[in-house]
Amino acid sequence: MDRETAQSELARLADLLSEANTAYHQQDAPTLTDAEYDRLNRRNAEIEALFPDLKRTDSPSEQVGAAPISGFGKIKHSRRMLSLGNAFSDDDVEDFVKSVRSYLGLPEENPLAFTAEPKIDGLSLSLRYENGKLVHAATRGDGQIGEDVTANARTVQDIPATVAHAPDVLEVRGEVYMSHADFADLNARASQAGGKVFANPRNAAAGSLRQLNPDVTASRPLRFFAYAWGEISAPLADTQADAVNRLSKLGFQTNPLMTLCADTAAMIAHYRRIEEQRATLGYDIDGVVYKVNDLGLQNRLGLRSTTPRWATAHKFPAELAWTTLERIEIQVGRTGALSPVARLVPVTVGGVVVSNATLHNEDYIAGRDSAGQPIRDGRDIREGDWVQIYRAGDVIPKIADVDLSRRPTTAQPYEFPEKCPECGSDAPREPGDSVRRCSGGLICPAQAVERLRHLVSRAAFDIDGLGAKLVEEFYRDGWLAEPADIFTLKSRFGPGQPRQLKNREGWGDTSANNLFSAIDAASTVPLDRLIFGLGIRHVGETNARLIARHYGTWDNFETAMRAAADQSGPEWEDLLGIDGIGTVLAQSLVTTLAQPAERASIDRLIAKLDPQPVEAARSDSPVAGKTLVFTGSLERMTRAEAKARAEAMGAKVAGSVSARTDLLIAGPGAGSKAKKAAELGVETIDEDGWMALAGLA
Ligand code: IVH
Repeated sequence: MDRETAQSELARLADLLSEANTAYHQQDAPTLTDAEYDRLNRRNAEIEALFPDLKRTDSPSEQVGAAPISGFGKIKHSRRMLSLGNAFSDDDVEDFVKSVRSYLGLPEENPLAFTAEPKIDGLSLSLRYENGKLVHAATRGDGQIGEDVTANARTVQDIPATVAHAPDVLEVRGEVYMSHADFADLNARASQAGGKVFANPRNAAAGSLRQLNPDVTASRPLRFFAYAWGEISAPLADTQADAVNRLSKLGFQTNPLMTLCADTAAMIAHYRRIEEQRATLGYDIDGVVYKVNDLGLQNRLGLRSTTPRWATAHKFPAELAWTTLERIEIQVGRTGALSPVARLVPVTVGGVVVSNATLHNEDYIAGRDSAGQPIRDGRDIREGDWVQIYRAGDVIPKIADVDLSRRPTTAQPYEFPEKCPECGSDAPREPGDSVRRCSGGLICPAQAVERLRHLVSRAAFDIDGLGAKLVEEFYRDGWLAEPADIFTLKSRFGPGQPRQLKNREGWGDTSANNLFSAIDAASTVPLDRLIFGLGIRHVGETNARLIARHYGTWDNFETAMRAAADQSGPEWEDLLGIDGIGTVLAQSLVTTLAQPAERASIDRLIAKLDPQPVEAARSDSPVAGKTLVFTGSLERMTRAEAKARAEAMGAKVAGSVSARTDLLIAGPGAGSKAKKAAELGVETIDEDGWMALAGLA
């Protein structure tokens, strides 16, 4: 086969298999038999093996199911839907309990009870009842906005359509799952009918709930356990355990294995009991969830960016499997990092077929950690090796070990490339960095595509209809080279242009217009999403929010960044003064923004946008928008709690007093900060004053 034929064959297979995936996962109407599907996948893999460099970015060998369906309406959650922090060992559980006690300033001798219950391996769902009637049901989505699956939820037996004697507004949250028996039945029926089977009950539950046709959902035996709540017009109870009991009285299924634990030992003992019963429960669970029982304390503990401080998930140990590592490939990420990936002979680990695993970096492959100490007793990893894979939760599979007794005699130590495999630029490893990075910057196609993908991602610009896959296609066809190009798509490929989006395969007038309007709408991006979307190294979602809240507007931000470029002076100090922003991030931010090519690209993007200022969290509070500094000791709440509370009221908390400080809260033992505040004429209050301000007096 020549290259040209291979290329067009790979394109044809990608199309066919993508169609088949969509038909199977989203329309529940398989277009291919299993055998045919497997044959096409094998052919694709064979051609990819012959011409590795022709492998497409949307290669079917990389696809797990189909992309999320866009056919559902969206629902904004009135209270965010959270995920949980993890504990993997008894020590982690102990640390969790300690962190709760320390946040609350609760001494060992004071009791602190937790509930412990199975962590159901399904998908979370929020049910909103108004005046006792189910008005909508939404999936978690990104935690803020979920998909409207009301029609489907109504077909689930465990979900009551009406509840009597409930608060006027009641949002019940819990897990949709499928039992082992129902899963086996469903798959048996599917394979009899010549359809494709689901890999595990979780996928089956997710696929069934996210059906565009509610009749299909109705034919799938889904179940629901209630374990939490969102907005409620009246409290359910004073404790977690009583609130869940109340949900049970209201007619929801709740898990019979929930119990109340007086201390860490009791929590761990219950974890062991649940672990013993795991195989005979009849449904999948992947750990035990602990929650602070007292809802008053839950409220004080509050939330981190995506997880509550008052709960954690104690995961069951990861599942392991052995397989052959066929090849090591290098992927180039958004910030140029060269990430080695192990291509494996597919193996089932915990019900999921795994064919790739991360190898982290060159030290990891060589068998040492970043400090040069041996890992795996110094055993390196080579192509051809027999390796042990593990998967814990949703994380990317990893390699736990390598069996030297089965190493092929021909296997050679892996030579990590010193040049970028995508653009050929040098890929040096800076001192202190564990990875090599491509120095090609914007000229590196891999980095360019990854940046575009990042920019359109859900946490950044989140443009309806413009996902990672389309961005890659547009990049490949030369329609997009850099972020600013997204906002000129309409002027280049819209009405009246020689080449038009609506004439692309699979597009029409309506879809093209919808995309152009979604892009238009996205030009008024909120500042925090914009800062995150720029894809600057070390700037994650949470940091971007802190930065956006601090500077308020793009103009303020960019003026400050210019002034801070030399990493000294008041603007630099001010940046470092943002609580949560460290030196490494600050350096990355100012150097990236001062780099001429990057800067020019960002300027071209900004010219197309109308970034929206971000509001402080609560603009009606007396400290909203103000900068606070805490010093000395606080007696009625810990520093961590005070800080979290201040931030929740829209204040910024800084670590040191400067001319920009609005208020100093000084407890007993305050020293130099109080003195400096006095010199600068900064208002100072004591803890009583703070409690009053915080509405806690
Ligand atoms: S509580 C406030 N309890 O696990 C936290 N979550 O990894 C809300 N889950 O998104 C979750 N069983 O989908 C809670 N008994 C349980 C759970 C549970 C399963 C899921 C839930 C959540 C995910 C976090």
